[in-house]
Amino acid sequence: MSKIIKGGTIVTPKGSFAADLRIEDNKIAEIAEQLPADGAEVLDATGCLLFPGFIDAHTHFDMSTGTALTADNFHSGTRGAIVGGTTTIVDFATQEKGETLVQALKNWHAKADGVSSCDYAFHMAISDWNPSVRNEIDTMVAEGVTSFKLYLAYDNLRVSDGELYEILKCVRDVHGIIGVHCENGDLVNEMIAEKRAAGELTPAAHPASRPDFVEAEAVSRYLYIAEASDAPVNIVHLSTKLGFDEVLKARAKGQKVYVETCPHYLMLDESRYNLENFESAKYVCSPPLRKKEDQQCLWTALKNNDIDTVSTDHCSFNFKKQKEQGRDDFSKIPNGMPGVEHRPAVMYTYGVCENRITKEQMAAQLSENTARLFGMYPQKGAMLAGSDADIVVWDPSFKGTITAQHMQQNVDYTPYEGLAVTGRPKAVFLRGQQVVQDGEVIAEHCGAYVHRHESEYYPQHG
Ligand code: URP
Ligand code: ZN
Ligand code: ZN
Repeated sequence: MSKIIKGGTIVTPKGSFAADLRIEDNKIAEIAEQLPADGAEVLDATGCLLFPGFIDAHTHFDMSTGTALTADNFHSGTRGAIVGGTTTIVDFATQEKGETLVQALKNWHAKADGVSSCDYAFHMAISDWNPSVRNEIDTMVAEGVTSFKLYLAYDNLRVSDGELYEILKCVRDVHGIIGVHCENGDLVNEMIAEKRAAGELTPAAHPASRPDFVEAEAVSRYLYIAEASDAPVNIVHLSTKLGFDEVLKARAKGQKVYVETCPHYLMLDESRYNLENFESAKYVCSPPLRKKEDQQCLWTALKNNDIDTVSTDHCSFNFKKQKEQGRDDFSKIPNGMPGVEHRPAVMYTYGVCENRITKEQMAAQLSENTARLFGMYPQKGAMLAGSDADIVVWDPSFKGTITAQHMQQNVDYTPYEGLAVTGRPKAVFLRGQQVVQDGEVIAEHCGAYVHRHESEYYPQHG
């Protein structure tokens, strides 16, 4: 039976308009001013906004750091995603040293397949580059993995500058996209050692060991190497004004640079590292939270469309037991924070309602731009006939408060505890099936793997 979502306002990056939307099977069939019911199941969306299903292209579910396993796996993480309005996530399949990419991808499918409550795709994080791994890039593309992550920090994951150059050229040739974690790993190690030697062992030493220039230097180096390899590139979790300035310089030379930031860099600042009772450990992530000036810069960049995407870097560890590992030494606190469940509400409340971005930009930055960059458009990220019917019926009149006591994320805190929010999904449709109703997951484990294509951001796409 077809479904009609009636009386809502469709939001797209190009504009918003009142219309009805008809779903046939798992696709959007038709969008028109008035659609006759004709026996269809009708959902009244009067007063609601209809967004394309949100996409979070930066999650770490069921990932081990070597000392801690993330609190959220694909079961809890994707339930959190869907209840908040995120219908697709792109998680980081991560290659262990000595492992093939094929094996890493197999491992991630085993974690996600049949378990996920939203659709899912994988970036491949390469940690061990060698000639046989090079030969696997084509296989990854054939398997629908067209984006790759590289780390310039973390000793167990990072690649050298030479490897970065080689991988950029290799991925350019298959029209894929590299996203890089930009921090200078050597400097971070040195500064951590300095802090420990000085007996500065509390979480307050975490941001001090990863100052803004550590990000900016890595961004600059990455972008010079990208220029030499003639590849469009993505920067993940950009957190500083200094790093952003490097992006502007590269773009002024004509380079194609795409930038992601995360809600925690917009909403939270470095004052969180001075809390009592080790509470600051909750906010230990890398890059760390920054100054108010950095936040302001990132919001302005979103307003000016200079930042392309907002994803979460959801990487959750329980405060009790897991963050606790670093009580006597900040450098042992597992890095990362939860966020996949709350990104749409946080961005709607503090972005759209506070006039920092428009709702149309929200549709772009949380959905369409991400789909285009990562080779999923117009299957995902679009309100078009023929696109997957991933629809968020957003109730802008809802008022609530974020609390860890009522969330799907399986972690014992949220960095947004007590934050007032406006708006939430009244209903979420995943490929035509309603999976959320008024804050409740009504159908779980319905997610399917998204086989992605090359990025749109290669020259022949214009
Ligand atoms: O602290 C963070 N961000 N942990 C997750 C891994 C990463 O760097 O993205
Ligand atoms: Zn990272
Ligand atoms: Zn990450």
